Amino acid sequence: MVPKAIMIREFGNSRVLQIEEVNIGSPGEGELFISQSAIGVHYHDIYVRTGLYKTLNLPGVPGIEATGTVESIGPGVTDFKRGDRIVYVTSSYGAYTTHRLLDARLAVKLPEFVSDELIATNFSRALTVQMLTKQVLNLQSSHTILVTAASGGVGRLLCQYANSLGVRVIGSVSTFEKAELARSYGCDYSLIYGQQDFIRMVMDITDGKGVDVVYDSVGADTFFQSLEVLSLCGHLVNFGQSSGPVDPLRMTTLAKKSLTISRPILFHYTADTAIYKTMAYSVFNIFREGTLRLPPAEPRSLKDASTAHDILESRRGGGSLYLVP
Ligand SMILES: NC(=O)c1ccc[n+]([C@@H]2O[C@H](COP(=O)([O-])OP(=O)(O)OC[C@H]3O[C@@H](n4cnc5c(N)ncnc54)[C@H](OP(=O)(O)O)[C@@H]3O)[C@@H](O)[C@H]2O)c1
Repeated sequence: MVPKAIMIREFGNSRVLQIEEVNIGSPGEGELFISQSAIGVHYHDIYVRTGLYKTLNLPGVPGIEATGTVESIGPGVTDFKRGDRIVYVTSSYGAYTTHRLLDARLAVKLPEFVSDELIATNFSRALTVQMLTKQVLNLQSSHTILVTAASGGVGRLLCQYANSLGVRVIGSVSTFEKAELARSYGCDYSLIYGQQDFIRMVMDITDGKGVDVVYDSVGADTFFQSLEVLSLCGHLVNFGQSSGPVDPLRMTTLAKKSLTISRPILFHYTADTAIYKTMAYSVFNIFREGTLRLPPAEPRSLKDASTAHDILESRRGGGSLYLVP
């Protein structure tokens, strides 16, 4: 089979995602040659495609995570063999492809109980949940949190995981249908962003205190409301901008309630290989224990990557959307 990849030659709408034949070459020092089985599709890929993030050199192959099988091994690689099933997440892109060379340090062997289809999109999401609840801050059962886009892909995993820790979880979403979905994925309460009295409702739930932590991935449309519903000394974790980048903030806004903010990016938390692998194994453990119900798999052909992007941009997030090479 001739290797093919989605190549971006100019930033733009989803039509710039075109499939092309590519030449892969043989694995160099420390590399694996892999044949891919499932490729995750993420909001990050949209930021890259549109040029909001200028992190992919053009022409270039987008995509940050996938599963596959090791076909051959470069010099110096000792911990993998031909036929190993692996998953990876990378900040160097190149995942929208049938085959690729991969730095062996990024590959993690997949346990048998994890399917390629479900892990391809949910690996980075589950790593993100680890980062948000263990590293950025240590979430405690005494906490009450607000999660925006609670029915989205990360939202569903984050709400369920927090719920399993005994945390009180308020989810916010854009529609009543999504509110119901959010409740079925671990929210104790679910509210609609534009709903009249949104702030009062959060205050009522928290006896007038406000929430300890807001996890906000919507950005522009929700950020300032997220600050409003925080308790004294509360913490806002802004980890995405699905509705657009957040406006600049005055420090005095934080001083009003001694608030703190963080803006974490998963790749920085996985940059150390040992920490990355530890996080990956704890994700596998969580999957084995069945703590998290993963959204149903939604396959699309690699050549139809543009359709997958259209689905995410239509705001119908939350599924385990992946590309089949
Ligand atoms: N910082 C990191 O390292 C990191 C890692 C992973 C993901 N993320 C970010 O987390 C966010 C969620 O990722 P995901 O995989 O869960 O995505 P997803 O499943 O597509 O969910 C995105 C959700 O955002 C909400 N949204 C609000 N405004 C939107 C708009 N204008 N267009 C589209 N959606 C909008 C939608 O829910 P409602 O309709 O309910 O608002 C949608 O369901 C993304 O912003 C992503 O970049 C960040």
